[in-house]
Amino acid sequence: MQIVHYPHPTLRRKSVTIKRVDAELRKAIHQMFDLMYAHKGVGLAANQVDLPLRVFVMNLAGKQGEGEELVFINPVISFPKGTSEAEEGCLSIPGVYGKVIRPERVKIQAYSLRGEEINQEVDGLFARCVQHETDHLDGVLFPDRMNELARESIMDDLADFEAEFESRRRLAEIPTDDVIAASWAEMEKKYG
Ligand code: CO
Repeated sequence: MQIVHYPHPTLRRKSVTIKRVDAELRKAIHQMFDLMYAHKGVGLAANQVDLPLRVFVMNLAGKQGEGEELVFINPVISFPKGTSEAEEGCLSIPGVYGKVIRPERVKIQAYSLRGEEINQEVDGLFARCVQHETDHLDGVLFPDRMNELARESIMDDLADFEAEFESRRRLAEIPTDDVIAASWAEMEKKYG
């Protein structure tokens, strides 16, 4: 398992609702935490590791053994309130940061790995993180949420990622769109 970078197509895939959780998916979710810590992140969505499924992991402490490890399966965000602006980054666009305006407070409904319902009103970094990760599951990346002027300032960085992607594809380090689509179909059939 590895983190895919912008503009990998799975990052633009609208992930499917998970209908069943098996040992293999549990293992994948644990691996997502390991990867998130290794890359010093606080949240990671399944489609960032090439799995087109509606689940993300989060630990606002960003360190194993600290904070709380949370798994959100089939998250739904509602009741946005207020606005807040803060700088965001993303493990799929490493080294690139930008200011994003989002609701300050939201309600998040989801299921934990144990199948328990999560129903929480959250704010601050918690609210920002669940919105950023739920966006991932809908194929939305933080630059899409930046205002046009701010996005202009990271266009060169994004172009570098695009060039890197094309070059890795030429080297066959990244599969073709057909191969990627076949793996989506397999995962969606298994868990969707
Ligand atoms: Co991200």
